[in-house]
Amino acid sequence: MADLSIDFVGIKSPNPFWLASAPPTDKAYNVERAFEAGWGGVVWKTLGEDPAAVNVSSRYSAIYDSYGEVSGFNNIELITDRSLEVNLREIEAVKKSWPDRALVVSLMVPCEEQAWKTIVKEVEKTGADGLELNFGCPHGMPERGMGAAVGQVPEYVEQVARWCKMYCKMPVIVKLTPNITDIRFPARAAKRGGADAVSLINTINSITGIDLDNMVARPIVDGKSTHGGYCGPAVKPIALSMTSEIARDPETMGLPISGIGGISNWRDAAEFISLGAGCVQVCTAAMIYGFRIVEEMKTGLANWMDSKGFETIEDFRGLAVPNTTDWKYLNMNYKVVASIDEDKCIGCGRCYIGCEDTSHQAIDLKPQADGTNKFEIIEEECVGCNLCQITCPVDDCITMERRDVGQPYMNWTQDPRNPHREVTEESTHEA
Ligand SMILES: Cc1cc2nc3c(=O)[nH]c(=O)nc-3n(C[C@H](O)[C@H](O)[C@H](O)COP(=O)(O)O)c2cc1C
Ligand code: SF4
Ligand code: SF4
Repeated sequence: MADLSIDFVGIKSPNPFWLASAPPTDKAYNVERAFEAGWGGVVWKTLGEDPAAVNVSSRYSAIYDSYGEVSGFNNIELITDRSLEVNLREIEAVKKSWPDRALVVSLMVPCEEQAWKTIVKEVEKTGADGLELNFGCPHGMPERGMGAAVGQVPEYVEQVARWCKMYCKMPVIVKLTPNITDIRFPARAAKRGGADAVSLINTINSITGIDLDNMVARPIVDGKSTHGGYCGPAVKPIALSMTSEIARDPETMGLPISGIGGISNWRDAAEFISLGAGCVQVCTAAMIYGFRIVEEMKTGLANWMDSKGFETIEDFRGLAVPNTTDWKYLNMNYKVVASIDEDKCIGCGRCYIGCEDTSHQAIDLKPQADGTNKFEIIEEECVGCNLCQITCPVDDCITMERRDVGQPYMNWTQDPRNPHREVTEESTHEA
């Protein structure tokens, strides 16, 4: 059986599944139950200076898929609404009872040296394994000069990371906000400031929808609303992309990453790890389905690793990074075309409509004597865009097949059709 244990920046954990800083990690009662269920670690709900934050009612809203499952989740909560003293006492007790689990403490205080110095020293006394700096909260806190307001300014990220490293011996993880044009800048700043790792993503600014009867966005607080933080399965592609940007940026390559964003099952976790993440954090899936989802996550990941011959997480961590490149290095001589399996086709015509109306008119509609239609790919017109395969409702009915164009690898920097082509030694290498 595969070994799921990890050592993330010196923090040991029996498996890579941690609960992200949020309501599931808000108090000892929740965290104890999470550990009993099998979670490898937690990042405690963000602590701040007293007086504790005060929340509104209501707080959450959601987007649903066609099966009625939550695909996107939105919240307008702030950091912990419990006092610092109560949280610190509980953190110390939980760490003592669960020495083999990772217990990282999330922090957010004003961007002042004394404030950070005081709180990191308080947290260190609890015996917690590490710190996560919350520079990502998109609502409520930025108005007070904290959270995303800091995370959007690389100089502040660097400065705060440096203070934390200066005033404690614990590993420091900088949690990044995705509400920024280029995620590499705050990641580089975190590294410059001496951070041991980055975690991403925090939530994305969002309005999930409008109540059109009352003309107010959701969630509604006495007839008014405000933008919230978006998370859940819908944000996973954004989080994966940002993770890959940091993993392959020459300036941050090798910087440990804790992957967060829409992770709901073992496969999501394996995807983040393949892009370089050393551990993963989960929030929405635990809030919607409960702590026991970790059982399936652990067995699913271990079974998959066994089937691939991976004995440890390190055996496959980062394997997808070298295959994630810039567009200009993709092979212009690689060609695929769509192929329809006639035996599986139910004649719905969705592939035809998509290709005919919005793509390349590469599917022929052939009316049959019995009133049904047959669909055939016109290979010379097909550009291999995948649209018909994506829209086809029947599994494996449309497959994309490779055609040999008889030409070797050639990327855009070498392509004669590129007016700015510059053939250099470097450009002739497969990237
Ligand atoms: C209700 C709620 C409260 C949250 N509170 C915090 C917080 O206090 N500190 C923090 O760093 N992130 C907070 N987050 C963000 C999560 O830790 C996580 O980064 C985000 O939800 C993406 O993960 P997910 O898609 O698994 O939910 C919160 C998220 C939710 C839904
Ligand atoms: S792959 Fe694209 S171009 Fe080819 S048949 Fe399908 S939709 Fe049309
Ligand atoms: S979408 Fe799929 S099932 Fe429908 S006509 Fe096209 S190939 Fe057949």
